[in-house]
Amino acid sequence: MEEISTLPEMKEKVGEARRKGHIIGLVPTMGCLHAGHMSLVDRARKECGLTVVSIFINPSQFGPNEDLASYPVRLDEDRARLRSSGVDVLFLPTRETIYPHGYRTYVEVEEITRHLCGKSRPGFFRGVATVVLKLFNIVKPDRAYFGEKDWQQLAVVESLVRDLNLDVTLVRLPIVRDPDGVAVSSRNLYLSPAERVSAAALSGALQSARKKILEGERSGEKIRQHMRELIQKQNGAEIDYISLCDPETFQDREELRGRTLIALAVKVGQARLIDNCLVDAS
Ligand code: PAF
Repeated sequence: MEEISTLPEMKEKVGEARRKGHIIGLVPTMGCLHAGHMSLVDRARKECGLTVVSIFINPSQFGPNEDLASYPVRLDEDRARLRSSGVDVLFLPTRETIYPHGYRTYVEVEEITRHLCGKSRPGFFRGVATVVLKLFNIVKPDRAYFGEKDWQQLAVVESLVRDLNLDVTLVRLPIVRDPDGVAVSSRNLYLSPAERVSAAALSGALQSARKKILEGERSGEKIRQHMRELIQKQNGAEIDYISLCDPETFQDREELRGRTLIALAVKVGQARLIDNCLVDAS
């Protein structure tokens, strides 16, 4: 595996792969890789002649009181995992490479970013959209891989690609869960054993809500209340949002109908966890 941190080297590598007619795949990450990331990597490896994984903890997507300074870094472990899974290039740019002195251009996806995580984390999706566009411009991938745990992030990147006519195919992969149901996430490292039990209740609440909807419940508020009760019982769990909404516009649905996204964000100890599931309420 080649490790690249500068733009000219990346340009050279991508140019060479293009000349050879390879499909270029990008898996953008902030490192501290887990089974969710590795499912994206494995898929990229199957579909692409050159697989690039980027690790960049993007400062512009963290708010002033968020965990940028303490975001977990596991570079040696990440390198070993990527090497053994056959990744071609690890792109590891510095902050100055991505945001050089005097940097002043940001991308904003409107409307859908007013809901859920966009509402609780102002500026978050502006930072994500900006860095993803920059990574696309640098790596010029044919295909880019994202996980559905960050469902709203995926919708933001889909809008970015469609609205700015970017020539990249997005590949979305399902949430990977640990045996206790917890959606894998780098932030799970913050959880103590007791908090881990509370975290497991989040996927439990999603599944219970899904079951009620499939059994015929159509009141968004009743389902939300049911989930609130399940989660509030857990030690150290502080609900940010529970939403039953349209999976594309993220508008809340009071009367449930059609494809519905059940999404939540809950702070458990130091970790802000998000999770979701899709249900057909037709
Ligand atoms: O999902 C993430 O890890 C980040 O938001 C991403 C897409 C790598 C952009 O920094």
